[in-house]
Amino acid sequence: MRLRDGKADYGWISIGLHWIGVVLVWTMLFVGDSIGGPGAELQSAMLKLHTTIGLSLYAVFWARVLWRAKVGHPQPLPRQKRLYYRVGKVFHYLLLAGIAAMLISGPLMAWSGAIPLRLFDLVVPSPIPESPGLFAAMRGLHAAGAAVLGWGSLVHVMAVIKHTVVDRDGALDKIMVPLEKPGLPPTV
Ligand code: HEM
Ligand code: HEM
Repeated sequence: MRLRDGKADYGWISIGLHWIGVVLVWTMLFVGDSIGGPGAELQSAMLKLHTTIGLSLYAVFWARVLWRAKVGHPQPLPRQKRLYYRVGKVFHYLLLAGIAAMLISGPLMAWSGAIPLRLFDLVVPSPIPESPGLFAAMRGLHAAGAAVLGWGSLVHVMAVIKHTVVDRDGALDKIMVPLEKPGLPPTV
């Protein structure tokens, strides 16, 4: 049971964080989008759910981003084309930057715009004064980050399908289980 990444593959920590991240990011996108739904009551409930998930799992979100920043990106598999590898690597860092942008802009947007930052029934008080300028900037960043994560996820999944069906370079195996030897079939 290998926890750390190999030279060209992922260990269990990276694999676990990837899939936890997928569930969290997609949940936050769907709940966040529902904040604009019909009715003040639904909007308030969705905002509370959104900030409660964001705040209670704040450290997990950051762990997902900072782990990759700390350990770096694995090298390509032997069958992986170098150009696709480079494009993929940049894209992965773009997705991670998108998550980081949400974590920074979310609380700052709420605090600067006097939106209650609720963790269950507790309201986290603002350490900064209200500021329409900061609110507009953070709201813009949050919306841009959401677009990067939403559309980026779609492109990422399409790229994975291409790797699996067309290139058959073992890219999907990498994020499922650590590979015994990169390029060979996976073992648990
Ligand atoms: C990966 C993490 C996150 C994702 C994908 C995400 C996504 C979204 C989306 C799609 C919206 C709706 C945006 C719009 O209608 O313009 C939204 C709104 C919001 N998010 Fe997040 N969010 C994340 C993290 C956070 C965090 C950590 C917080 C704060 C703790 C937060 C606080 C808010 C608030 C307060 C709003 C409402 C803004 C308003 O009323 O205009 N978000 N989020
Ligand atoms: C069903 C959905 C998904 C599948 C099948 C999938 C599959 C994969 C695969 C196969 C890799 C390895 C690529 C390589 O190193 O060659 C990977 C890496 C990566 N994926 Fe996904 N992915 C999914 C959703 C997402 C989502 C929603 C995000 C974030 C928004 C994401 C972010 C990343 C990142 C940042 C990496 C680089 C390694 C890491 O830090 O985890 N993925 N994914």
